[in-house]
Amino acid sequence: MRVRHIFWFMVIMHAGCLIPLAWLGAGYFFGRLGADPISALEQFSGRIAISLLTATLLVHPLASLLKQPLIMKARRPLGLYTFAYVLLHVLILVGLDYRLDIPLLVTSYVDKPFIWFGAATSLILAALAITSFAWWRQRMGVWWGRLHRLIYLAALLDLAHFFLVVKGNLLSLSGNLARPSIYAALILLLLLLRLPVFRHHPCPDISTHTDDT
Ligand code: HEM
Repeated sequence: MRVRHIFWFMVIMHAGCLIPLAWLGAGYFFGRLGADPISALEQFSGRIAISLLTATLLVHPLASLLKQPLIMKARRPLGLYTFAYVLLHVLILVGLDYRLDIPLLVTSYVDKPFIWFGAATSLILAALAITSFAWWRQRMGVWWGRLHRLIYLAALLDLAHFFLVVKGNLLSLSGNLARPSIYAALILLLLLLRLPVFRHHPCPDISTHTDDT
């Protein structure tokens, strides 16, 4: 892959991450988000966040499969976009849905396990976003790679969040499980690909572009 190709690859990646934001903003301001626009905003931002998280996990296997280490350059921005959409998702809930009424928010959700899974995912993603800078990477040494492997845990916690949101109760599984099931299949496949048994073809020179997570 040449520098020109990677430039266009990155342009498409940034556009792909920003277009949903523009669509969301336009939909809200022009009243095109249906009868419950705030709930639509919450759901849509959550779906974009989990999609970008999945895309972030996809980068390494894709770079290895295509033997194109430059693809690894997309991983950090994708991870940061994921976190940005998570922030937006939470801000919509706190700012638009609950109008900063934190006591009401706490009483509404404190006994709902899906919120705790979402919160745990957000904390992990926040830690990864903050430490994604070169300054942290140099200082943390081997711990940097270990910390950033938590992205897999974040993906699993987020799947639990998604399943519980659409159902409300994991014990009595039924209802609209199609969407989270698709993400679960994709994420589990990507996790499987990280197992040593499937890692026969490492990407050449990938060490210059990766954190080995
Ligand atoms: C403190 C953190 C979080 C809170 C308080 C939170 C809250 C919520 C709420 C209230 C809903 C239901 C929206 C509705 O049906 O109207 C929801 C749905 C969702 N959230 Fe979160 N969330 C958090 C973190 C996350 C994270 C980290 C992700 C992904 C990386 C995420 C992805 C989703 C998804 C995919 C949905 C389902 C959208 C749908 O129904 O299709 N959430 N979240």
